[in-house]
Amino acid sequence: MDRIAIRGGRPLHGEIPISGAKNACLALMPAALLSDEPLTLTNAPRLADIRTMRELLSSLGCEIAALQEGKVLAIGAADLASQRADYDIVRKMRASILVLGPLLARHGRAEVSLPGGCAIGARPVDLHLMALEKMGARLDLRDGYVHAEAPGGLTGAVVDFPLVSVGATENALMAATLAKGTTVLKNAAREPEIVDLADCLRAMGARIEGEGTSQITIEGVAALHGATHPVIADRIELGTYMLAPAIAGGEVELLGARRAQAGALWDRMEEAGLSLSETAGGIKVARPEGRVKPLHVITEPFPGFPTDLQAQLMALLTLADGESVLEERIFENRFMHAPELQRMGARIEVHGGVARIRGVPALKGAPVMATDLRASVSLVLAGLAAEGETVVGRIYHLDRGYERLEEKLSACGADIRRLRD
Ligand code: EPZ
Repeated sequence: MDRIAIRGGRPLHGEIPISGAKNACLALMPAALLSDEPLTLTNAPRLADIRTMRELLSSLGCEIAALQEGKVLAIGAADLASQRADYDIVRKMRASILVLGPLLARHGRAEVSLPGGCAIGARPVDLHLMALEKMGARLDLRDGYVHAEAPGGLTGAVVDFPLVSVGATENALMAATLAKGTTVLKNAAREPEIVDLADCLRAMGARIEGEGTSQITIEGVAALHGATHPVIADRIELGTYMLAPAIAGGEVELLGARRAQAGALWDRMEEAGLSLSETAGGIKVARPEGRVKPLHVITEPFPGFPTDLQAQLMALLTLADGESVLEERIFENRFMHAPELQRMGARIEVHGGVARIRGVPALKGAPVMATDLRASVSLVLAGLAAEGETVVGRIYHLDRGYERLEEKLSACGADIRRLRD
């Protein structure tokens, strides 16, 4: 298994291009199932998770052309050979569940393996199923699969989510575009990836209002046509690389990024004492002399502080001048990076969903283990500042969500290299 080795202590200077958003693309690709005309996505990121989604859609009979080294994906779903999403693929990537709504809406049936849990939590899909049942689907859970039927098609309904779920909102939004009548999604997720999906569906002929707010209204139509849609920039990759100069020192410009995409992270980084500015080409981040200030941050659904940046922020706060508190309120087990950071000299106490971090003047490089996508990148960020060498193992987690990470960081002066075992 590949590892990544980092020799820390080198401030970063240069530019980092931000790729298309993994979590937008993983919802946009299944949208192709809603039409018998091709959907072409541009600015697609080249990531393992995207390749897994391509494998899943191909297994259903989609024809996928990956152009410009995978940055353009032309997906045709005219003649599907199957409506069965196999466990072998679904277990590799939970977002596979996002084919359920589109298959049901367009073909009236679907068999999708239940994704099972993952390292950061149980991650049930009960809200996805509740929404589709409200829209008239008959669901039968057996032998680890959801067997779904809607022989007469789906019917518009009012779906009131008891808690905010990005994936359930996306599944319901896609299914509602072809349902008979009006669907209203209440307590819907407001993430930019939802807005991007709605923009794409509207380009395909869907009738949607309210995306980005907690109430989305969809008027079903008889059919959707093909479209070409650019994937939005990845706000989590952006936040990750904004934190890189904050941790390592120096000054880096994130190309193509705008302040709005940085979301809640921008204000918190300013509060910690970092200097951030919008430039003509993107966002510039610099760390002034001295240690950053401690923070108290709570992860929440958008527009709150994103859970997907919690591990990366923790890496910064291990070096703050004082005690910080991080409250993880979205997932039940998303502090697995803490013990690995402790191996590097961080002082962290975790009690349930609350981590207390007492800042230290310096971290020391050590061999550490990645456990999930965002935990692994937080260890890389900590390695940029740590004295000596840090070797991060199991970086297949990293390859799921970060395109050419070691290239992007070494172009800014980091001493980082991939060890192929
Ligand atoms: C999406 O996951 C993202 N993944 C996650 O990013 C992200 O952390 C998460 O949204 C929250 O922002 C993709 O978009 C592919 P949820 P999703 O449904 O949709 C509970 C990354 O690092 N819940 O909003 O699965 C769930 O257990 C990944 O890129 C139910 O109880 O997240 C969690 O506690 C990790 N029942 C909370 O809701 C359900 O049916 C939020 O989950 C669905 C979710």
